[in-house]
Amino acid sequence: MAQANDRPVGVFDSGMGGLTVLKALRARLPGERFVYLGDTARLPYGSKSPETVSRYAVQCARALTAHDIKMLVVACNTASAVALPALEGALAGTPVIGVVEAGADAAVAAAPNGRIAVIATEGTVNGGAYVRAIAARRPQAQVVQQACPLLVALAEEGVIEGPIADLVVRRYLDLLFMRAKPECILLGCTHYPVLVDVIARTAGPDVALVDSAETAAVATARLLAEKGIARKTKGDAAPLFLATDATERFARVGEIFLGAPIDPETVTLVDL
Ligand code: DGL
Repeated sequence: MAQANDRPVGVFDSGMGGLTVLKALRARLPGERFVYLGDTARLPYGSKSPETVSRYAVQCARALTAHDIKMLVVACNTASAVALPALEGALAGTPVIGVVEAGADAAVAAAPNGRIAVIATEGTVNGGAYVRAIAARRPQAQVVQQACPLLVALAEEGVIEGPIADLVVRRYLDLLFMRAKPECILLGCTHYPVLVDVIARTAGPDVALVDSAETAAVATARLLAEKGIARKTKGDAAPLFLATDATERFARVGEIFLGAPIDPETVTLVDL
């Protein structure tokens, strides 16, 4: 078995969107080893019940513990919003971090007057985890939420610019701006950062956009340091990728989210 500090950090998402979080993790923690699981066979999580998402999330976490992970980053907003208690119960002893708390930190920092909009999947919006996390930090904040389910499909298809992306983003932001004038929009879904240019153009220059990837990476670095399990050895090891379906597609489409090439040979098919 590897030395405690040399063990990998486990990261999972319902699919490839969590690679935006892995990208931020690798940039902040270049010495760490990572194993990433995308549950591509069962995406989307965002339209499923909390019970189903919790069950799937625990299965993903168990598959990662088979790789001897030293901590788990839940790089899926929907799973972070509804499944953290189940994950903490299932992984007794292994530290778990979700992206919701990190996203709330980023939103509060970017909204001096507390006018915050959260765009996310239906599951995340209905669960209200972001509203609670923001209220815990800034009780006076005015938070509006907007579910944007089609944005996941656009991102998965690589339709991240052009007239179709413009139209869909415009439709959702119109619904949002009819209800509020936010100073900040939190991209509360792993898939949305790849659509950031369209969202920024549509929202206009007065609205700040934030996501949880960077703050989740900061929180991960802090937790590794606090627990004394940060990797001492330097060197940028290639991540290990696991997917529950379509490994070739994972490598091809995943590059959009990771912002770097993925060798299909490094993606292993797993059955949960
Ligand atoms: N990963 C999910 C999230 O961040 C989006 C995709 C899905 O619905 O599974 O909420």
